[in-house]
Amino acid sequence: MTGVAGLVGVLRAIVGADHVLTDADIRATYETDWLRQWHGTTPAVVRPGSAEEVAAVLRACAAAGIAVVPQGGNTGLVGASVPRDGAVLLSMQRFTSIGPVDPLSMQVTAGAGVTIERLQHHARAAGTDFAVDWGARATATVGGAVNTNAGGSRVVRFGTMRSQVMGLQAVFADGSIVTQLDGLAKETAGPHLPSLLVGNEGTLAVVTAARLRLVPWYRETAAALIACDSLVHAVSLLPALRALPSLDAVELLMPDALRLACGHVEVKPPIDPGSAGAFVMVDCAAHRDPSDDLLALLSSATGVLAVGAQREQLYRIRDHITIALGAAGVPLKLDVAVPVQHLDRLVRRVQAALPPSARLVIFGHLAEGNLHVNVLDAGETAPAVREAVLSAAIELGGTISAEHGIGVAKAEWLPRLKGPAAYAALRAIKTALDPANLLNPGVLFPR
Ligand code: MLT
Ligand code: ZN
Repeated sequence: MTGVAGLVGVLRAIVGADHVLTDADIRATYETDWLRQWHGTTPAVVRPGSAEEVAAVLRACAAAGIAVVPQGGNTGLVGASVPRDGAVLLSMQRFTSIGPVDPLSMQVTAGAGVTIERLQHHARAAGTDFAVDWGARATATVGGAVNTNAGGSRVVRFGTMRSQVMGLQAVFADGSIVTQLDGLAKETAGPHLPSLLVGNEGTLAVVTAARLRLVPWYRETAAALIACDSLVHAVSLLPALRALPSLDAVELLMPDALRLACGHVEVKPPIDPGSAGAFVMVDCAAHRDPSDDLLALLSSATGVLAVGAQREQLYRIRDHITIALGAAGVPLKLDVAVPVQHLDRLVRRVQAALPPSARLVIFGHLAEGNLHVNVLDAGETAPAVREAVLSAAIELGGTISAEHGIGVAKAEWLPRLKGPAAYAALRAIKTALDPANLLNPGVLFPR
């Protein structure tokens, strides 16, 4: 085999000519992320249809000395699934099989390319639900959610993706395939390989399928939007919120986020954004109408109860914040978390780091202290803003990635976050599993 041209021929022989895409116009849709933050080029987009084909693709790329970047729905936010330096783009779009819901174990097996929305519909058709949910559900995939350890709005009740993964099928850089999809709840024989691979961002292995925990489907829902004087006031609501048995989500919207999303979807804000320092969107779900839980809360707080279509409208607004940001420009997106008592300090440090021209839009997941810090028009100050925000998160005892991953955006901060011993252990695992740095080089681990 000689160079890229020879590799493309080998890849066609493995997956079929229809699944090796080299046309520039077609490649372009895979070479840039959905918010236009990250750009790259690839000689070929390869779409394998089985774990065995992934294994053969990895072996062929290793033989050619060409790296591989896996990609799911391309809704990532940290540049982890955009090809760099001429790497082959491994699209997981064809891994769309989904097994029957097992009511005995409350589990299901889904391919890496199954979208979160399809998984949710599939689970609900069997009277169950899939617990991880966020705005990009129609495009984001199971594989991407595993690779980033996705979170979303329901972490307060059900945990992140790591809590849902009972098993995985994955292909290592040498082409070996591990299939642990039996979903035994008490598989405690030694370290749990699937757990290690959650959050690996395609750097340790290519995830092809997941065995996933399902949760009850709580059909009765009620939400509220609460206006708070300040972020400190919003945080002070948490003990009362956590006491609600039906609590399903506690989202934070700073006034600019509410204003931006309402403007984008062209609806009147449910509460005047100028009337408060912060907004908390609370969602409750149960087998019986949870409105009374929220009404009791609202008797001591300023807010609106939203049921039925009004609740859907609230979610429409919440789900459109990122899309609205993308329509307003190319945002600098930073996903950080700190202990909730430090959220206000974090926001003050972020504000202090911004140039006057920048626009700050903050929203996130309040219960986990997880802020999505979005900066529009940061211009040339973007690297300094990034440094200031990530440093502040680390200094306040938090993290530089709460659910979006590290990607290329934050790789150089990973050693600082983890500390020497933990980082050396992670690096040793990477070197052992992928000695030639074939899988997603530059992502997670700095070069
Ligand atoms: C969200 O919570 O909507 C997502 O994490 C996306 C984002 O931060 O833009
Ligand atoms: Zn989020």
